[in-house]
Amino acid sequence: MMDWTDRHCRYLHRLLSRDALLYTEMVTAPALVRGGALHLLEYTSEEHPVALQLGGSDPAELAQAAKLGAEAGYDEINLNVGCPSDRVQSGTFGAVLMKNPGLVAECCAAMIAAQPVEVTVKCRIGVDDQDAEEVLPEFLARIVAAGVERVTIHARKAWLQGLSPRENRDVPPLDYDLVQRMKGLFPNLHISVNGGIASLEQARGFLDAGLDGVMIGRAAYHQPADILCAADRVIFGAQGPDSTPEGAVLAMLPYIEDHLATGGKLHQVTRHMLGLFAGRPGARAWRRILSEGATRPGAGPELVEQALAQIANPARAAE
Ligand SMILES: Cc1cc2nc3c(=O)[nH]c(=O)nc-3n(C[C@H](O)[C@H](O)[C@H](O)COP(=O)(O)O)c2cc1C
Repeated sequence: MMDWTDRHCRYLHRLLSRDALLYTEMVTAPALVRGGALHLLEYTSEEHPVALQLGGSDPAELAQAAKLGAEAGYDEINLNVGCPSDRVQSGTFGAVLMKNPGLVAECCAAMIAAQPVEVTVKCRIGVDDQDAEEVLPEFLARIVAAGVERVTIHARKAWLQGLSPRENRDVPPLDYDLVQRMKGLFPNLHISVNGGIASLEQARGFLDAGLDGVMIGRAAYHQPADILCAADRVIFGAQGPDSTPEGAVLAMLPYIEDHLATGGKLHQVTRHMLGLFAGRPGARAWRRILSEGATRPGAGPELVEQALAQIANPARAAE
């Protein structure tokens, strides 16, 4: 998610779940290929498995960008066919490509031919006044014919005129049923559902109903512990104790030290940690201590330790 799931966020989420597949925010092919912005590909090896999401619509450029992603060691290269923002529409990226499945198929084929890492697609069920029942199976058939074996479907349309990107994540109605029916039509295609999924139980329900995967965006960001601490057990069948937000905080301390030692700022990391204790005693004080203190000059890991201390003993901070 743009501006959210940067490398610091992914490092934190990986501490909470070993098995969940993490995605980068969208990186555009022109930025990599024409702009030479290779720093956008940087990540730490602890983040694996991690997928690089690309935006673009030029097959040759996407192929080149996918190759750069593969060389950087990403585990999957994902093409964004879901983002509705104006900026992205103007470059013919994202959801507007739902109107041009032939071009998406060409892009996928070029990306697959250029490098060895699996290429996947994230799409909507349609855009604007398209009949989703009709266009979604056609779209999937085209990308499958191009060699794509895995897709994530955000189960709502994007309305390209009149809604902001934010509204486009909430206003068009969700149609999980349609996504479910796609599994019947494409039994060999690995289909993940996305959109409005806010608990592991809900995610488990989709898997039990025959879907292959579930992608969780906003809930995983805002309540990372609720979504990720039990994910390895509930979703992936792992044995052993669930992770804890307290454990993740302690494991973030050396990461934060390293980040500060290389000139980084505390708030660049802690902004992703604000929701770690959401819904638990001390959550408000945790959030307040970090959000007020992390931008102060010289702020360091001791601020995080101070915020954690009042989680252990909420009486120490007036809520
Ligand atoms: C701030 C923000 C940035 C996003 N950026 C991307 C992006 O770069 N690529 C993408 O495929 N989806 C992006 N999305 C959409 C989410 O991946 C997801 O499809 C959408 O929020 C619905 O799922 P959710 O209800 O689980 O959040 C973004 C969402 C948010 C809130």
